[in-house]
Amino acid sequence: MEIDTQLIPIPPDPKILSKKNVVVIDVLRATTVIVYALSQGAMEIIPVASVEEAKERAKTFSQEVTLLGGERNSQKIEGFDLGNSPTEYSEERIKGKRIILTTTNGTRAFYLVSAGNQIFIGSFLNIGAVAMRCVSLDRDLLIFLSGNKGSFSLEDTVCAGMLIDLILKNGEKPVNLTDASYDALFLYQRFEENLIGAFHFSSHGKELFELGGGGDLIFCAQTNITEVVPLFKDGVIRIF
Ligand code: MLT
Repeated sequence: MEIDTQLIPIPPDPKILSKKNVVVIDVLRATTVIVYALSQGAMEIIPVASVEEAKERAKTFSQEVTLLGGERNSQKIEGFDLGNSPTEYSEERIKGKRIILTTTNGTRAFYLVSAGNQIFIGSFLNIGAVAMRCVSLDRDLLIFLSGNKGSFSLEDTVCAGMLIDLILKNGEKPVNLTDASYDALFLYQRFEENLIGAFHFSSHGKELFELGGGGDLIFCAQTNITEVVPLFKDGVIRIF
């Protein structure tokens, strides 16, 4: 197995990607929200790129079971049911619901990697379960980091490094790492004992903290609180 890491969110070559599994990561906060919502019993998540598209898609479903969620500039979107804080996605609020989600970086990432073989959603919350799934599938892997407005993201890279570390520790077969994957692994080792410390260096972490989102940083730094491994397939994210 080879593990490559896309450190900057540029679209990979679809021909190469079709042979690989993909893990999409946006720790602050899209993939944390998705993993948590599904762990709390959400029916499915439909990630869309724009606010207009989210509103249009919502019209095509029963309003009783459909919620609009997401953010722009890290704030809840006017007229939406939910923002992008994982703490809003509790069982009482979202069990059995379909969530149409639009965020600045995270939701568009899925469409950049849609040519991938199987596309999983990773975060610190489910990192161990994702690692075990990758080990059992034993297929070349691309870890795709959603980044921050097209740029490198420290916290996503640390999370990728933790995933790589767990695959190396749990797999029995040889694994080749690209230079980008070594980069993620070494960065993770720097923050291994203090994941939240990485958020306080990262530009998006600092922005959320200044907006009063310190609680979200603590929430998103939790590791292995769920075993769910969501999959993006045909435009929908579910636990298939
Ligand atoms: C994103 O997808 O861009 C992020 O999740 C943004 C955020 O939650 O603030």
